Amino acid sequence: MSGLTAVHRAESRRREDEGLVRALRTHQVDAIVGDRDVMLVRLREAEDNLKSSRNQLRALAASLLSVREEERTAIARELHDEFGQALTSLQLGLSWLSRNAPAGQRPLHAKIRSLTITTTSLIQSVRTIASELRPGVLDELGLADALKAAAREFAHDTGIRCVFKTNTGKVRFDRRAAIAVFRIVQAALTNAARHAHASSVVITLMRSKTGLNVTVMDNGKGIARKLIDSQTSIGIAGMRERAFSLGGTFTLGGSSSKGTILTVRIPLSRAVIGKAV
Ligand SMILES: Nc1ncnc2c1ncn2[C@@H]1O[C@H](COP(=O)(O)OP(=O)(O)O)[C@@H](O)[C@H]1O
Ligand SMILES: [Mg+2]
Repeated sequence: MSGLTAVHRAESRRREDEGLVRALRTHQVDAIVGDRDVMLVRLREAEDNLKSSRNQLRALAASLLSVREEERTAIARELHDEFGQALTSLQLGLSWLSRNAPAGQRPLHAKIRSLTITTTSLIQSVRTIASELRPGVLDELGLADALKAAAREFAHDTGIRCVFKTNTGKVRFDRRAAIAVFRIVQAALTNAARHAHASSVVITLMRSKTGLNVTVMDNGKGIARKLIDSQTSIGIAGMRERAFSLGGTFTLGGSSSKGTILTVRIPLSRAVIGKAV
């Protein structure tokens, strides 16, 4: 009898243990499933936060870029008006002096001549700085012709062959888009001259049914991949932000055998005014 009781007791203890193990397992699974849910929610929150701060940063970058363009325009105007006018009146004064100084005073005439040369070169510098600050050519010539002029100037200044190709014809570009594209190409040309050791650069401005495609290719040493996304590549980051601020895409790549190629694509609706012809 006592043996039977012992078996019963053992059996009921086994059942109790099993029940306990089952309960523990279920709880643990519950806890694990609960943790996973919590983690998923947290992850989603973190992703949302990241996305919204990325959007905020992008908006900030876009507004900084437009403020910078406005400031540049103001400085360019001031330089042109204030300095340009003062230097022109200096030049006129020197020319008056040269006509009216006594003919025998050779050192005086030599001094006037050298001051005239300095003034003329200052006027030229002010003009160059003003037009670099605010590409007036953009308003006067339109984007395609302004880029053509920039390519010619680049070749003249650096001795690097530079070709510009376009199919945009008489398209009227949106002003913001034109400024952005012009600045991107300017920065890419400066990089090609400064870093690439290239002998030739090709710029293209091509319109397709849906977008405006801009490329700048050089045949130089190529750009190291890690530099493309590096935080210290401020110039590249600026180009990328300009493209993004117009809802566009930006890629930079290449290799030591092929050189560097920059590609920017802007939706036609943001690049062109009215109906594209
Ligand atoms: N066309 C290019 N060919 C080779 N290297 C380039 C080219 N453009 C940029 N780089 C490299 O990428 C770096 C970052 O460029 P950027 O952001 O414009 O800054 P910065 O021109 O002031 O150095 C450059 O210092 C250079 O090493
Ligand atoms: Mg640069």
